[in-house]
Amino acid sequence: MTGSEPIAVYGATGYTGRLVVAELARRGADAVLCGRSPSKLHALAEETGFSEVRPASLEDRDALRHAFGDCAAVVNCAGPFTQLGEPVVRAAVETGTHYVDTTGEQTHMRRVYEEFDDAARAAEVVLIPAAGFDYVPGDLLARLAGREVEPLSELVLAYYVAGFGATRGTLHSGLEMARAGGLEYRDGELRRAPRVPRRARFAFPVPVGSQEMVAYPSGEVLTVPRHTRTRAVKSLIALAGLAPVPLPGALVALAMPAAALALHSPLKALVDVAIDRLPEGPPEAARGAARFTVAALARGEDGRTARALARGSDVYGLTAVTAVHTASLLAAGHFAEVGAHSPASAFDPAEFLDHLGGHGVAWEAPAPAREAAV
Ligand SMILES: NC(=O)c1ccc[n+]([C@@H]2O[C@H](COP(=O)([O-])OP(=O)(O)OC[C@H]3O[C@@H](n4cnc5c(N)ncnc54)[C@H](OP(=O)(O)O)[C@@H]3O)[C@@H](O)[C@H]2O)c1
Repeated sequence: MTGSEPIAVYGATGYTGRLVVAELARRGADAVLCGRSPSKLHALAEETGFSEVRPASLEDRDALRHAFGDCAAVVNCAGPFTQLGEPVVRAAVETGTHYVDTTGEQTHMRRVYEEFDDAARAAEVVLIPAAGFDYVPGDLLARLAGREVEPLSELVLAYYVAGFGATRGTLHSGLEMARAGGLEYRDGELRRAPRVPRRARFAFPVPVGSQEMVAYPSGEVLTVPRHTRTRAVKSLIALAGLAPVPLPGALVALAMPAAALALHSPLKALVDVAIDRLPEGPPEAARGAARFTVAALARGEDGRTARALARGSDVYGLTAVTAVHTASLLAAGHFAEVGAHSPASAFDPAEFLDHLGGHGVAWEAPAPAREAAV
């Protein structure tokens, strides 16, 4: 990391926040620990050796501004972001601090892109929502595949995730997505996704092979049209990979964004209570056992296709790696331009994926070929 200003972590005491703080420590970076609970932050400081603790509630605008004021970037890990995200984004822009978060929620991403882009440009900062596993690899792969055969009739993102144990934070955020409903990108426009998600098959390379998939409202629906000329973005997730999830009964469904769409909002309070009784998240060994394959299939309007693919493990560990790498690149001034961006519109996709190679991610983006995979 270059640059002498520290990186702030808001929500540092949560499951993801602590992984982000650990990744900053591993990289030898300077971190400022921020969040709502002074006692939890001081305990984390003792654990990690980072001494700078700045408690700030989301309602306290001055405290948030003080917390980020001398930092190069802030990584926001306090979700659900649809509920909690806005004050942190605003404070980052007001203090001229680059902003990164770990959301998977379309509603929050859209707000950052549509409501904060102008202010970010004026403040000469970069805002990158969804800089975790959701949706860094997918967005980068989409660009690598898409640019080979642009303009596109369709860009398909296909996820296979096995052995994924959702954290409480992910489940609460899944509920938030259920309330908001989903967006899809079709005929060159953002549209409301159908309540009953579409099914499809997708042919992954072996060993995953052909899978039954369900459409879900991913962040690439919002990010890909920002950098690639396409008439549609379709996101699919493999049903088989999602089971078994080490969570009880109905809550399994909430780990699946598509199934979460079926949840009606009056249930939310009850389910929130049930989620809070679960363990915080998967222990380290279980985390490492999660395996993923993400594929991007670009279909050119001229009939050509191109594919890019990444494989790896440990979705939560990787989220910390991608969020910290994003913040570090911003802190070092290594980005295309200021404003609200996706990973692929801010950075060189191949270079970013190469960095993930050091964390067990293998990727490929072969040359264009004629094929029919879905
Ligand atoms: N994109 C991805 O691939 C990916 C991966 C991992 C996580 N995530 C997302 O990241 C978020 C965090 O997940 P997690 O598992 O780390 O959740 P978590 O363990 O529950 O942590 C939530 C964090 O938010 C803070 N927080 C909650 N309510 C707050 C409030 N009203 N004011 C201020 N801070 C508040 C908590 O503070 P306290 O510690 O004081 O309670 C905690 O630091 C979720 O939205 C999740 O979906 C996404």
